[in-house]
Amino acid sequence: MGRDIDRASQRASQLRQKLEHHNYRYHVLDDPVISDEKYDHMFRELVVLEQEYPELVVSDSPTQRVGGEPQERFQKVEHHAPMLSLGNAFNGEELWAFHKRISKLLETDEVDFATELKIDGVAVAVTYENGVLVRGATRGNGLVGEGVTANLKTIRAIPLKFRKGVSRPEIVEVRGEVYLPVSAFNRMNEERAEAGQSPFANPRNAAAGALRQLDPRMTALRPLAFFAYSIGYVAGMSFKTQIEVLKQLREWGFPVNAHHRHQEAMAEVVQFCYDWERKRDSLDYQIDGVVVKVNRLDYQDRLGVVSRDPRWAVSYKFPGQLATTRLLEIRINVGRSGALNPYAVLEPVQVGGVTIRTATLHNEDFIRRKDLREGDVVVVKRAGDVIPQVVGSVREKRTDREREFRYPDRCPVCKAPAIRAAGEAMAYCTNRQCPAQGLEALKHFVSQGAMDVRGLGPQTLEKLLELKLIQDPSGLYLLTEEDVAQLPSFKEKSIANLVSGIEQSKSQPFHRVLFALGIRHVGESIAGLLAAHFADIDPLMEAGEDEISSIDGIGPEIAGSVRNYFMAEDNCGLIERLREAGIHFQSAQKALKGEGPLAGKTFVISGSLPTFSRAQATEFIESQGGKVTSSLSSKTGFLVVGESPGSKLEKAKQLNIPQIGEEELKTMAQAKSKL
Ligand code: IVH
Repeated sequence: MGRDIDRASQRASQLRQKLEHHNYRYHVLDDPVISDEKYDHMFRELVVLEQEYPELVVSDSPTQRVGGEPQERFQKVEHHAPMLSLGNAFNGEELWAFHKRISKLLETDEVDFATELKIDGVAVAVTYENGVLVRGATRGNGLVGEGVTANLKTIRAIPLKFRKGVSRPEIVEVRGEVYLPVSAFNRMNEERAEAGQSPFANPRNAAAGALRQLDPRMTALRPLAFFAYSIGYVAGMSFKTQIEVLKQLREWGFPVNAHHRHQEAMAEVVQFCYDWERKRDSLDYQIDGVVVKVNRLDYQDRLGVVSRDPRWAVSYKFPGQLATTRLLEIRINVGRSGALNPYAVLEPVQVGGVTIRTATLHNEDFIRRKDLREGDVVVVKRAGDVIPQVVGSVREKRTDREREFRYPDRCPVCKAPAIRAAGEAMAYCTNRQCPAQGLEALKHFVSQGAMDVRGLGPQTLEKLLELKLIQDPSGLYLLTEEDVAQLPSFKEKSIANLVSGIEQSKSQPFHRVLFALGIRHVGESIAGLLAAHFADIDPLMEAGEDEISSIDGIGPEIAGSVRNYFMAEDNCGLIERLREAGIHFQSAQKALKGEGPLAGKTFVISGSLPTFSRAQATEFIESQGGKVTSSLSSKTGFLVVGESPGSKLEKAKQLNIPQIGEEELKTMAQAKSKL
């Protein structure tokens, strides 16, 4: 028996070494020496061995890439240093302008560059302690991301540990891009189409969706890949250049994109960008540009960062790609404000490896100006993130069988008259009870920048309306667990999640509530201005157009729309019902005037909290009348402590400032509000 397990243990470690080696050859060196079948064979042998002798399983075994239970939600992870964004250059001239700017600041034009392909995927940061993967997170807002460790572990291109015999810093945060190869993306979409599921718009969305799965087994189903491109933080090591950093990453065992170059002169950089603009389709991953970085890290330090953009790097953005296809039909989508938005249904066409099926047509005038007709051959354009556009029609291809489009004078959903007012670009459905508007309004109400109700997707909303469980947003707050249980596919856990998601949304601050109402022309920033000025819904509801438009940044058109909204009785009714449900119709500052449960208390937040992001925690405290500051002083009332709090915890102890967790913070707000 003892001999058996010894032999098994030896074989297991041999298999692991072999698998790791071949994984490295495949993902990092891009030079596999065995077939996939052979790899799978060894892998299965290891799985069987580990099943037979569970005591042999080690956490960094290749078999442990998919493991653990599905999570309820992602932990917040604070990055060691901010994950920056990049300024853009759209042509050679703008690259030269970048060169001029940095030469001036550095007082030399002898600057060399590292040029890298800009992979169109999802940015992540992966932390290794003593060479072992311990944590991975998405970029999030640049400061705090979502902990997706279990999901990242399923990606075979991301090493679970560093290679043998290389340096192992105590801690290092490696950054890079998770992406889905185009070939895998197309295969996946074909399978989805066959299964009657809607296709993913592009490889990046598919990759982002896969990373955000709460169940790592779902992530593992998608063949995601990875390229490392920088070090966010490292203990006890220093590098001189970006090229050196890339070399080190590869040595540790990360795949680094092979098409990076060290360029001595800007002219070469420009040529490199132009070359890849032409060659981009030859790759099995999507790139949306070239990242040009000042190579010397001491120069990078000297150049520094302005807001979120480093001065030492720029992204050369490729122009959108064009393709020709047929415009089959023009359809109308009814928006939440009742706008009849026209869009084009296209004969599916590949643009840069991605299939386009629809494109926006903006409004009636756009269609008229471009003289677009159903049946036309059209040129479509796709630029990275943006919705595909129709550039124009190809007149020579007209056959006389094309149909001119008549913009409807009735809502296609509820058939009520649609009216286009003078000066408006759109016609609007006049029926306030229009079901299409109702659904869109609800979708907006629960969306991320608004009430941010977790676990409530469009299909669920549709079902809730259909079953008459809700009529408008206020109905959400009256839903009971029994109501939710009527929804198909809702089980104990998902029911509880939805009910608690709705409950949590009640703490959204006033400006988000205002945005959530979906008043025409009132986006997030206008909602912020209104909330800051009025601090309370009542004076806002009574305000005349003049007062509203006296606010800096708000013009007469917006003021008119706000006024109109509050003139309508049904809107006032909705607000009353929401108010009764406990939604905040008052700003934090107003509550602060001695009213909120946390009034007069100052908080500092440190570390990552279990459910709140830093911004959410701040919003919560402020909505309860408290104040949040960034540094500790004798005036600080409490330190809210999460995971990996850093030096603030020490300082708080020195200053005798009480420390509380997220739960205590919530209890504090509740306990006080009951007094
Ligand atoms: S460097 C200042 N290098 O592009 C440093 N970023 O706007 C910024 N990206 O979301 C990152 N390929 O994930 C860098 N070779 C590359 C990149 C790259 C893709 C993404 C990155 C970020 C965005 C920057």
